[in-house]
Amino acid sequence: MKSGVVVKRRWKWFATVVPGLVLFSLLVPLMFLLGLHNHFPSGYLSDDIFSSNDGLETTVTSVDHSVSDIKIQISCELEYGSYCLWSVKHKAELKDYLVKKLKDQLFLARAYFPSVAKIKSEEKFSREVKLNIQDHEKILSEAIVDADLPKFGQENIKKMEEMITKAKSFNVECTNVCKKLAQILDLTEDEAQFHTRQSSFLYHLGAQTMPKSLHCLSLRLTMEYFRNPSSSNTDIQHAEKRENPVIQHYVIFSKNVLASSVTINSTVMNARVSKNLVFHLLTDEQNYYTMKLWFLQHSYKDAIVDILNIESLSFENLGNSNPLHISFSEEFRISILDSDQPSSGQIRTEYISIFGHSHFLLPDIFKNLKKVIVLDDDIVVQKDLSSLWSLDMKGKVNGAVQLCKIRLGNLKHYLGSQIINSDSCAWTSGLNIVDLEKWREHDITATYQILHKKVLNMNVSSWRAASLPISLLVFEDHIYPLSDTWVLSGLGKDYGIGKKSISKAGVLHYNGNMKPWLEFGIPKYKSYWMNFLAQRDQYMDDCNVIS
Ligand SMILES: *[C@@H]1O[C@H](CO)[C@@H](O)[C@H](O)[C@H]1NC(C)=O
Ligand SMILES: *[C@@H]1O[C@H](CO)[C@@H](O)[C@H](O)[C@H]1NC(C)=O
Repeated sequence: MKSGVVVKRRWKWFATVVPGLVLFSLLVPLMFLLGLHNHFPSGYLSDDIFSSNDGLETTVTSVDHSVSDIKIQISCELEYGSYCLWSVKHKAELKDYLVKKLKDQLFLARAYFPSVAKIKSEEKFSREVKLNIQDHEKILSEAIVDADLPKFGQENIKKMEEMITKAKSFNVECTNVCKKLAQILDLTEDEAQFHTRQSSFLYHLGAQTMPKSLHCLSLRLTMEYFRNPSSSNTDIQHAEKRENPVIQHYVIFSKNVLASSVTINSTVMNARVSKNLVFHLLTDEQNYYTMKLWFLQHSYKDAIVDILNIESLSFENLGNSNPLHISFSEEFRISILDSDQPSSGQIRTEYISIFGHSHFLLPDIFKNLKKVIVLDDDIVVQKDLSSLWSLDMKGKVNGAVQLCKIRLGNLKHYLGSQIINSDSCAWTSGLNIVDLEKWREHDITATYQILHKKVLNMNVSSWRAASLPISLLVFEDHIYPLSDTWVLSGLGKDYGIGKKSISKAGVLHYNGNMKPWLEFGIPKYKSYWMNFLAQRDQYMDDCNVIS
């Protein structure tokens, strides 16, 4: 039996949700402005989110000597994007004030730079700003905590401060970002509290700039879909292909229409043959119609895009653990004691993206399929992926790139006593070959359910944070290591990646919080993503989506 999408009570849904979305889109800017006068809009603020105990955040303090401190922090931006934005910082991290200061300055300087560069008489100054921006980028690519900062860090901050002040003094034509920044800074300069909270606030502002237009796009597409509900026929034509186990099935979990479009387009554009490709795009109810309309209006050579609303699917054999919430790929930032020099007490920060709870539904959603390739929506494919389909995975369930900088032993305190082998490497999501037959054979779903109970009882984690230990433990013995050459990671956080490595990589993974669709995305990596963005269309224009 196929798990079909039930388009249930479409109009009723429309009547309730769309006005809600409209209201929401009006309220966001309003909250934003009003909130500035007393305290910050709580939706954006780390402190407010984290102080509530239902916990999008977990801190584990270890007594074990090999792991003196593990901190797992996640903050999920539920409305926008399909990923978990972990940019909101924990209170305790405000101690790394200088690093944050540098980040804020970098953001501000980037916002002002284009305007300054236009002023003819200020060529010299604009060159200086540019150099300072580069210096900041360089420092930040190496420093995560204040202790990492070079001695001259303070001087850079001072110099940049002066430049920003000077840039602000010009009567320049402001871009949107610049206007917003200036407004916020001027309004709040006197607020003492602001200074302690400034960085995470600015950080978020940057992260929000693009998603606002994404939100607009989503809204427009949804309205258009209901204005013109002529389209469901194509579903029937494709039904046969959707369930045909012989062709290549890709799965993407996403709430972000542009991101998933880029992932699909880049896969198709680089595929030697596109007619045997099916993309199953799994999304939630709120984004379902957006996705429907978008993928009806855009074509990807001969590939088929099948959109499923995961909230409308039902699963017989999951019983009570039928998940009420959706959790797509999750990104975590973990601090571990450096195992090379444990005595030095150096804490290393690593980033890991991993399957969310919804991934554990795969064998039930695709009952007829034997194998799927799961792609995160923050990747860009640069090579033909067809050879992955004939890869012999030696009976393993999950073909994944390993992350041997992190051994399960490093996470011992967090994972508990269930680790089979402390030397096992962690693995990462992004590009995963999932053998559903082997999955069913080993009953990975049952293991998941058992671990799910155990981990939640360990009271170290929120439901979302639980997906880290669960995913790592479930697949501990079932990973087939993919060659590192397949995936280049870090394009959402690491400033130091060279052009050569980028051009050689099969897949670029923008893991990290500087996603390419965000204002705050790392500029030099944006073009690889933009290349596969659809040509401008009316909706994108209306919503100010940059392309
Ligand atoms: C679990 O939480 C309780 C209170 O919330 C605490 O007293 C206890 O120490 C915690 N257990 C562990 C293992 O962290
Ligand atoms: C796919 O990418 C190509 C460029 O490689 C672009 O011209 C095209 O518009 C994109 N198509 C869609 C549907 O995004």
